[in-house]
Amino acid sequence: MKRVGILVGREVTFPESIIKSINEKSGGKVVAEMVKVGGIRLDEPKKYDVIIDRISHEVPYYRAMLKRLALEGTYVINNPFWWSADDKFFNYSLAAKIGVAIPKTVLLPQHAYIKDITGESLRNLEFPIDWEGIVDYVGFPAFLKPHDGGGWQNVSKINSLEELWNEYNQSGTLCMTLQEGIEYDQFVRCYCVGQEKVLIMPYDPSKPYLSGEQYHNAENYLSPELHKRVEQDVITICKALGYDLNTVEFAIKDGVPYAIDFMNPAPDAELASVGEYNHNWIVDNMTDFILKKLEQKVETPEYRWSALLNPPAPAKKQASAKTTPTSAAKAVKAPASKKDGKPTKAKAKKASDK
Ligand SMILES: Nc1ncnc2c1ncn2[C@@H]1O[C@H](COP(=O)(O)OP(=O)(O)O)[C@@H](O)[C@H]1O
Ligand SMILES: [Mg+2]
Repeated sequence: MKRVGILVGREVTFPESIIKSINEKSGGKVVAEMVKVGGIRLDEPKKYDVIIDRISHEVPYYRAMLKRLALEGTYVINNPFWWSADDKFFNYSLAAKIGVAIPKTVLLPQHAYIKDITGESLRNLEFPIDWEGIVDYVGFPAFLKPHDGGGWQNVSKINSLEELWNEYNQSGTLCMTLQEGIEYDQFVRCYCVGQEKVLIMPYDPSKPYLSGEQYHNAENYLSPELHKRVEQDVITICKALGYDLNTVEFAIKDGVPYAIDFMNPAPDAELASVGEYNHNWIVDNMTDFILKKLEQKVETPEYRWSALLNPPAPAKKQASAKTTPTSAAKAVKAPASKKDGKPTKAKAKKASDK
């Protein structure tokens, strides 16, 4: 009997629906259930064939547990090794390289550092930061947001250098990006399952969460050409990043879909938030993807980092899966420094870093 486990946070309807759907559609050949784990031993045996991970980004113990279970051949959605390595700024740069429209984006040195990082620790950092050069490139309005964030935490819209400094000065130890704001005509959020199935959802980010107004049903919301391009961009991005489940958000301006957020490996799928149609779509497509995955032969994992980042794909997908993380180690060129950097504490205080 094959076993699928789901690892969840506070969400309720998605876990319930996916468990029910897998149990029903498999006709008794697969058991889907909530994951139950405690202390994990070095030699922990295999418990699950597939785990759907919805929360390990918030619970480090779960992330470590998932990596360990992957060594036994458990297929984790999404890959815990790659999810740990990924960040939004890398994603923007990678997507731009492979032909997706991305707003101009700059990675900023942190405003503050952990206690033992001092001025001496940061001799590689240009100071002051060339704020004028950065805002000349990005323009206003802009969005200041963490390079590895989610749930709109610490995201702010910026209209002037003063506003930028004000928000940056409150960003603490977070590593932030400054991104050109797209004053969009249309906005869509797209589910992508198995790097091939795409659902384009018209979405209004200005409406509150759970208002029932964020996701609106609009037949033919995008023109056929735009629809095709968005669908293609979603697949291009998800293949390159290797995510089996993701959402990709586009702000569309003058016919160009700019991808602004596509590191959502545990995307919102709650009924009350996304609505019945979208909820059922994601449950059905995830069920089909998982049942198909369970039919494939499970290879013994190869204990090399590149193999763990990229578990073997079905034969026809092998070529695209190879593109994933080869340029991850490329250094980000720091913006040139000149003029006065107004924000406080951009350079760490003097103390020992030992
Ligand atoms: N470059 C941008 N142009 C226009 N709106 C943006 C941009 N970046 C972020 N936003 C707005 O802020 C929201 C949250 O930003 P996002 O990048 O999606 O972060 P999170 O991962 O926290 O959801 C988006 O849904 C969008 O409404
Ligand atoms: Mg988002």
